[in-house]
Amino acid sequence: MKNVAVLLSGRGSNFMALAAAIEQGKIPARIVAVVSDLSQAPGLEWARDKGYANWCIRPLGKSREAFDREVVSKLQEAGTQIVCLAGFMRLLGPFFVQSFPAGILNIHPSLLPSFPGLHAQQQAVSWGAKVSGCTVHFVDEKLDHGPIILQRAVPVMDDDDEETLSARILEIEHEIYPEALRLVCQNRIKVKGRRTILVD
Ligand code: GRF
Repeated sequence: MKNVAVLLSGRGSNFMALAAAIEQGKIPARIVAVVSDLSQAPGLEWARDKGYANWCIRPLGKSREAFDREVVSKLQEAGTQIVCLAGFMRLLGPFFVQSFPAGILNIHPSLLPSFPGLHAQQQAVSWGAKVSGCTVHFVDEKLDHGPIILQRAVPVMDDDDEETLSARILEIEHEIYPEALRLVCQNRIKVKGRRTILVD
């Protein structure tokens, strides 16, 4: 059983997908903390309603390092082993990344390394890509950069816009993020440089 913390800034649909999979016994984990940098984040309100331990930690007026230290100490007090970023809109510094050697995971709505950063789905449409998708990866200090755990392709239709493509990708996000977290919690993902290897 792994202790998992979720960091989010928005609606929290990926958090809900992880929570549902854990509730259904599909992932050997428990959610010990939910942290948001925005008090109004719907995902944080959902955590509150459902009774998950939750905190809003505001970055305003703090250096990135000071903010990171505050979040890390809250997560460590809660006994966190694995951190899942689920629509968390801040880059983590080296102190944060080194504080959770068992893994920090992120989900990104494109097939990395294509279309990192904001509005990945719009980037795919604008570029004229025929295929996009989503990626779950370990987090390092660079944006959308760490070793890839799982990816799934989603076709881009001729009449897609940002909204329609985002909706189809999101459905797949809700499948691969719980699957990736399950594999990590089962210690089945070994990292070798940039590559991850699935072990039995
Ligand atoms: C998702 O598209 C995720 O890939 C990206 O931010 C969005 C978060 O959505 N990192 P939600 O808050 O999980 O609904």
